[in-house]
This record gives sequence, structure tokens and C-alpha cells, in this order.
Amino acid sequence: MIQGRGRGKVILLGEHAVVYGYPALAAALDRGAEAELSASSDDRLVSATALLNARRKHSHDEKCEQIDEAFTALLESFSAIPLGVCLKIQLEIPPGVGLGGSAATGIALSAAIAAHLGRSGDLALIESAALAWERVFHGTPSGVDTALALHGGVGLFDKMRGFQRVDIKEPLHIAIANSGAKTSTREMVEAVALRREQEGEAVDEILRSIGLLAKRGALALNDNDLLTLGEAMNENHRLLAGLGLSTPSLDALQRAALNEGALGAKLTGSGGGGALVALARSREQAEALALALSSLALETSSYEIKPW
Ligand code: MEV
Repeated sequence: MIQGRGRGKVILLGEHAVVYGYPALAAALDRGAEAELSASSDDRLVSATALLNARRKHSHDEKCEQIDEAFTALLESFSAIPLGVCLKIQLEIPPGVGLGGSAATGIALSAAIAAHLGRSGDLALIESAALAWERVFHGTPSGVDTALALHGGVGLFDKMRGFQRVDIKEPLHIAIANSGAKTSTREMVEAVALRREQEGEAVDEILRSIGLLAKRGALALNDNDLLTLGEAMNENHRLLAGLGLSTPSLDALQRAALNEGALGAKLTGSGGGGALVALARSREQAEALALALSSLALETSSYEIKPW
């Protein structure tokens, strides 16, 4: 049996602006998705959650159509279409909350297929197949989620240059709180595009400022200056809220995280629901934050982002 893995991610700074070519600072999580490939009489994708079950061009079930389409797009990205494969996928992070669950799934599936075809080393192929999968769900993904799912670590991503690793000297400790409201990346990205059409330069100015925060955050991270990184995260939350992307529940989580001593906190991912990320000084503080936020969230976890 062949396995493939994709990592989940957390955007520390820069979501949405990254869609418009500005950089985002993101870190891979040690949890993500795992795919297992075995031989089968037809092409199947099977998962623990019924939602993901699909067959290549076989299903007539409306609920499965999007997954079918994405699975087909992913398989067709490989020049030799791998026929007769059964892929089992296991997701270790909650889907639809901005932690990169679908990109992790796309990378895990693509990595398993690439290994099956003897092309494990072709990272560009794995990434582009996962992007084909992502496009079906998200329309115009920037590629930040798939880059982190594939490369791991911490880095700046922009559409021109791709992923550039940022060296961190010490592990980074964060808490993530899932507000419990699912969100659609496609809808949130479309909402920003509409606002940009209606408000023009004012929105462009916000996106530009978010891009600058991501650069500042990367420099701060490089110097292990967590205070500056935390301040940039707070400012980023304010700017995203200004674009209408926060919710009362995310704002309440952000206030609570800061009251509990977080160095910074912001919504992460597409907003409109989903998760909040809070930066801590230590593992103990990240664990304490996760505990303190649990009464306001569906679920919380602390994570350690390891130096690469
Ligand atoms: C989603 O994780 C981040 C967004 O910036 C969309 C994207 O980059 O494709 C909202």
C-alpha cells in the first residue's frame, strides 16, 4: 500500500491580500491529511466522512458531484491517468474552518498517486494536481494552502515567487480556536472581490497594508521578535474586520485571547466563521490559552510550530 501526506496550515498574516499577489506568512501544522492508495476495479475515493466519497466520473449523486469533479481534475493532472486506484483519505483537522483541510487532502491524494506512478520527486506535479482539486472548491485559490501542505515549515508565500521558507530559531507556540461556524473560502473571496469593485482604492489600500504586515511579521519571526509579530497579528485582525470578514464570535475570541495574555490574535483563513489563532510566549501559555478559549469555541487546540 502507498501513502501520501499533506499538512494543515495556519495563516499568521496576510489572508485575502495573498489572492491579489501580496505575501502571506503561514505555518504548517503537524496535523493534516493522510491518503492510502491501493488497487481497485474502478477509481474510488473513500473517506471516513461520507461527504468526501467519490468515484471518477461515476457518481450521479448531487452531493458528491463537486468531490467527483475535484477528484477527476486531480487525477487528470497526471499525464498517465492512474486507473484502477482506491484512495482512502483520513483528515486530522476540522474541514471548512480555514486550517487548510482541503489543500492537505489534495496534496495527500496527489502525493500518493505520484508515488504510485514512480514520480514522488515531482513536487511541481503534486502541487499542480492539488491546485486543480482546490480550484473546484475555491475558484481562484492563491496557492498558499497547497504550498504549506506540500512544503511544511514556516514561510512567506506569494503568487509570483511561491513559497519562501522563513527560518525560525525557536519553536512557535500558538492556540487555535474553532468558532464552530463553517465558512466557505469561495464565498469569502468573492465577497472581498465585490467590495473591491464597489469601493476601489480603499480596499486596495487595506490589502496593501495587509501585505506589508506579512513582510514585517516574517522579519520579526526571523529575529524571534514575538512582540512585533503579535502586534502585526492584532492589526491584521482589525484590517480583516474592516473588510467585513470577522464575526461577533471571532471578535469575542480575539478579545478573550488578548485578555488572557496572548501576544497577538486574529482570525485565520477566509473569515466569516472558522478559526482564530493566538500567539503565545510558551507551550504552557498556548495550552492555557486553548483552555481559556474553550468556553467560547467549539474546540480549541495548542500547537507547536517547529523550527525547520
Ligand atoms: C484561505 O486559506 C486563504 C485565502 O487567502 C484564500 C486563498 O489564499 O486562496 C482567503
